[in-house]
Amino acid sequence: MDKLQVTGGRRLDGELRISGAKNAALPILAAALLPDGPVRIGNVPHLHDVTTMIRLLGRLGASVTVLDGMKVEVDPTTTRDFVAPYDLVKTMRASILVLGPLVARHGSADVSLPGGCAIGARPVNLHVDGLKALGAEIEIEGGYIRARAGRLKGARIVLETVTVTGTENLMMAACLAEGRTVIENAAREPEVVDLAGFLSAMGAQITGAGTDTLVIEGVERLGGCHYEVLPDRIEAGTYLLAGAITGGRVRVRDVRPGHLDAVLVKLREAGATVTVGDDWVEVDMQGRRPRAVDIRTAPYPAFPTDMQAQFAALDAVADGVGTVIETIFENRYMHMLELRRLGADIRIEGNTAVIHGVEKLSGAPVMATDLRASASLVLAGLVAEGMTEIQRIYHIDRGYERIEEKLRQVGADIRRVPG
Ligand code: EPZ
Repeated sequence: MDKLQVTGGRRLDGELRISGAKNAALPILAAALLPDGPVRIGNVPHLHDVTTMIRLLGRLGASVTVLDGMKVEVDPTTTRDFVAPYDLVKTMRASILVLGPLVARHGSADVSLPGGCAIGARPVNLHVDGLKALGAEIEIEGGYIRARAGRLKGARIVLETVTVTGTENLMMAACLAEGRTVIENAAREPEVVDLAGFLSAMGAQITGAGTDTLVIEGVERLGGCHYEVLPDRIEAGTYLLAGAITGGRVRVRDVRPGHLDAVLVKLREAGATVTVGDDWVEVDMQGRRPRAVDIRTAPYPAFPTDMQAQFAALDAVADGVGTVIETIFENRYMHMLELRRLGADIRIEGNTAVIHGVEKLSGAPVMATDLRASASLVLAGLVAEGMTEIQRIYHIDRGYERIEEKLRQVGADIRRVPG
């Protein structure tokens, strides 16, 4: 398995283009199963998870063509199979996103239950309960969610927990249901709004995207469309942090700054000079050591859980004491244990991590456990003395397109070593 070798001490300086958002591309590709004609999707990031979703669509019989320049064309009219098998779902839990579209469009879906993962149990009960509310008959049998339905019927669904893919699955299913569906306590993430934009481009009738109440008027059919995936706010935030943690200057472009507000507040608290343009954001630390910040994750527009691990790395070398409280997932502190191997002074008390910043970290071999934990280890490696070797980096390739190339562009000493 490939490894990343990072040698710390370089102050980053430069500009990076941000790719399309993984967490928008995945539901949008799943939604491509809904229409009666082909769709063309642009700004699709070249990521392992996207490849897996494309493979899944192919397994279902849809015709998928990857065009040059991150464009993907999906013709769902050849879909003839409605099973998302364990061998694919076990590698990517977002495969669950084909459940809603398959039930709504074809009245049948057998989707392997995604197991737990490093960051938590991550149940899918809200996806299942919501589809039942829309009229689907669902059995959990043999490790599969087996759903059958005639035409779904609109309903009022109150989600007991804010769930991003749960909101997305139910919004997709409701598009073809008969009548009105109201989803209360819906997720407000920009990726949910982007999916709603794609569905609307295909003729769906959706209002309230970006608020906690979605109203979907079901239609008979959806048609093909062209659509561009929005930029990845988490990738952008990660590279801005790389600039901040090294005391350097990084500008990310082709982004939507408004999606980064909660992250930019914390970067400013850490002492960074943050400049915002129409489609770019620049962080400049002017050689200063970051100040420790307190982080508490919560659903959008509050501080994103997918940036928590990255800020833990910043706090590890910051001036002062920072606390990190993870409220979304019950086990998203694996990176803290690896950061300790690099010399971080971190104490975990319940769901709070107390991080005393140290003057320097020392490079060492560490292991990536999940996507964003991997990113935090790369960030720590950028400032640790000597070399940090990060193993199991297949995690990082799921969510960051060519991370070592992008970081080298802004001066990092990082290389991929085939494992
Ligand atoms: C999405 O995961 C993202 N993945 C995650 O990004 C992100 O961390 C997460 O949202 C939170 O923002 C994609 O969009 C593909 P949830 P998702 O359902 O939808 C509980 C990354 O790094 N819950 O919003 O799976 C759940 O256990 C990944 O890119 C239920 O209890 O997360 C969690 O505590 C990691 N029952 C909370 O809700 C359900 O049926 C939020 O989870 C569903 C969720």
